[in-house]
Amino acid sequence: MGLKLYIGIDLGTSAMKLLLMDKEGAIHNMVTKEYPLEFPKPGWSQQNPEDWKKALLEGVPELLQGFDGADVAGIGCGGQMHGLVVLDKDDNVIRPAILWNDGRTAKEVDYLNHTVGVDRLARWTANIAFAGFTAPKLLWMRENEPENFARIAKIMLPKDYINYLLTGVHCCDYSDASGMLLLDVGNKCWSKQMLELCGVTEAQMPRLFESYEVVGTLLPETAQALGLPRSVQVVAGAGDNAAAAVGTGVVGEGGCNISLGTSGTIFISSKTFRNPDNHAIHAFAHADGGYHLMGCMLSAASCNKWLMDEIYKTSDYAFEQMDITDDKLGENHVYFLPYLMGERSPINDTNARGTFIGMTMDTTRADLTQAVLEGVAFAIRDSFEVAKSLGIEITSSKICGGGARSPLWKKIFANVLNIKLEVPVSEQGPGMGGAMLAMVGCGAYPSVQAAADALVSVADVVEPEPALAAKYEARYQSFRKIYPACRELFPLLHG
Ligand code: XUL
Repeated sequence: MGLKLYIGIDLGTSAMKLLLMDKEGAIHNMVTKEYPLEFPKPGWSQQNPEDWKKALLEGVPELLQGFDGADVAGIGCGGQMHGLVVLDKDDNVIRPAILWNDGRTAKEVDYLNHTVGVDRLARWTANIAFAGFTAPKLLWMRENEPENFARIAKIMLPKDYINYLLTGVHCCDYSDASGMLLLDVGNKCWSKQMLELCGVTEAQMPRLFESYEVVGTLLPETAQALGLPRSVQVVAGAGDNAAAAVGTGVVGEGGCNISLGTSGTIFISSKTFRNPDNHAIHAFAHADGGYHLMGCMLSAASCNKWLMDEIYKTSDYAFEQMDITDDKLGENHVYFLPYLMGERSPINDTNARGTFIGMTMDTTRADLTQAVLEGVAFAIRDSFEVAKSLGIEITSSKICGGGARSPLWKKIFANVLNIKLEVPVSEQGPGMGGAMLAMVGCGAYPSVQAAADALVSVADVVEPEPALAAKYEARYQSFRKIYPACRELFPLLHG
């Protein structure tokens, strides 16, 4: 028997990424399994949990090739948040999962925020309703698919379905449960008022755990299919942003992480619970046992991916950024509102749409590319401003996710936010965080903080440059006027 190994799973929106890590932090293998995302109607976003199962059953054996499954001690999963997964009494999936970036629930969100009222919601859950959250989806299902709704025996989130497949246990952790709008975040229990309002009972909800707690060991048939011993311990895991924060060492008091994946998030950790008056950003539990505030934009790296894949029809993203030389930064007259899926934080508007504005006859392809990169940074700045208005001081942040691989994008972010960005050695945020939570569950580290202290180090620092930050400050002041000017137009554009 060699060094003990831990599997970290990142159940993302476009793919499942698996990694095999030891207690010293060495990543021995990584596997990515892609799966489709359905947009059955404009603004809708669904995925089939069967595809996640297939990714798991193929991905783990592939990850273990050349290794002894008997060396694996634990598994931890960080997963896309808020997605509604519903199982019937025999644990069969009832309908495709409705994902975090689905915007079908505008009516339900309006009912929750305006009829039930944000004050009551905030008192019960520490949050208000956003279209991607789970509770509005339950209300939508009750109204639009009553037969399906009547069959629900268990409600869970995407990574909880993976944990169910592994262990047979219906479980959820506090960080991910926070995003359902069904959890009383401050008291870490299901909100009786919210369950009643959504027409569900506590028996239909999964059992709650801290992210680093062991929920069970492998089911015999799953262990066999994966090539692992039954003794492997599975921890509750976390929402992908909390897991990414663990993976970048953003735990305890006052840390900040920016994640540039399909979504873009700014995540601020704290030891104590805060229920701020401004609910434009979320007040959730963290995977280290504490709490965090988070702003989430629905389309971040995916805006650049859309421009490259769908519009330019290129796979050479770096080539498209080559003409954006240093002298162009802070000088772009083209702006882009990155609302390709509507927007969550801080504007909470399912009707908002992607918008280029400011072009002239001399506008180039590179200006449009630059506008997209800058538009995403400006939109994160919107949430950053909300955090600042709450008295939170942020002078530096970690950064992770696929978008953080672009040196240009990191430079734009550092200067738009005017903060120092620290790039961790590994950008595998959620997967690494999942493996670290498994290490804590298996007793390899006494706490999430101890695991982060031991395993996370910084590879690179991007400092803001005063002259460039000043130019971006002026640009941001223009950017922030564009959405209010367009807001009333958006609903008219799509009827
Ligand atoms: C966070 C959110 C997204 C998803 C992406 O609130 O909705 O970051 O978790 O996977």
